[in-house]
Amino acid sequence: MTDRLGFGVDIGGSGMKAAIVDLVTGELASERIRIPTPKPATPPAMAAVAAELVRSHGWTASIGVGFPGIVRHGVMHSAANLDPSWVGVDADTVFTAACGVDVAMVNDADAAGLAEMRWGAGRDVDGVVLVLTFGTGIGSGLFVDGTLVPNTELGHLELDGRDAEVHAAASAREREGISWKQWAPRVERYLRHLEMLFSPDLFIVGGGASKSAEKWLPRLALETPIVPAAMANNAGIAGAALVARHAGI
Ligand code: BGC
Repeated sequence: MTDRLGFGVDIGGSGMKAAIVDLVTGELASERIRIPTPKPATPPAMAAVAAELVRSHGWTASIGVGFPGIVRHGVMHSAANLDPSWVGVDADTVFTAACGVDVAMVNDADAAGLAEMRWGAGRDVDGVVLVLTFGTGIGSGLFVDGTLVPNTELGHLELDGRDAEVHAAASAREREGISWKQWAPRVERYLRHLEMLFSPDLFIVGGGASKSAEKWLPRLALETPIVPAAMANNAGIAGAALVARHAGI
């Protein structure tokens, strides 16, 4: 049984979430624990929270960590919604030292995308699939015939003279106190731009805003089929666990 289990941590701008994952079904095999992301979100503060998440699940094997920034070979190259002191930090080493287990790092949206492609709305879908997460920022996972193109960071496309996520992330709706109806055209404008750039076959939308997909998804006029993420907010955890398993650590 333990052979089919993994452990994933999903780091967001507002919460750090973790659970044991059944790697055959993609379902959570434990309670999902969420601890608010420390403020400031520095490496030592966040490493301590990750260690607490691992400890509280009694987990002792390798873990995957989805992180909201560009991650290359375990090193952070950006951290837009966290403390800037992350840039240049070997997050793999920091989390390994704090948690006392082997760690595989992955971008959070790439992790969510991998889970959706394996178990969720992108299962068996070929062609160009864009998985987008609408939360504190906008995360993107680009797949070509099921293969991930990592670290695309499409939330930071410059659109109408500004960083797209500042205007169209779910956090912008909350920050500005606007309705789903008022927010939807921003998402549509953004997705239309992505259609022009990538000619995708499918959009999958996840992140916090996907919990209320019925309030805004039907308002979007697009050429590309668009579906809500099937794994809701658990995709990031499940995908991170999957990455750790594939890293063979
Ligand atoms: C970060 C991405 C992340 C996204 C969603 C963006 O601000 O740059 O790395 O995937 O937020 O969390």
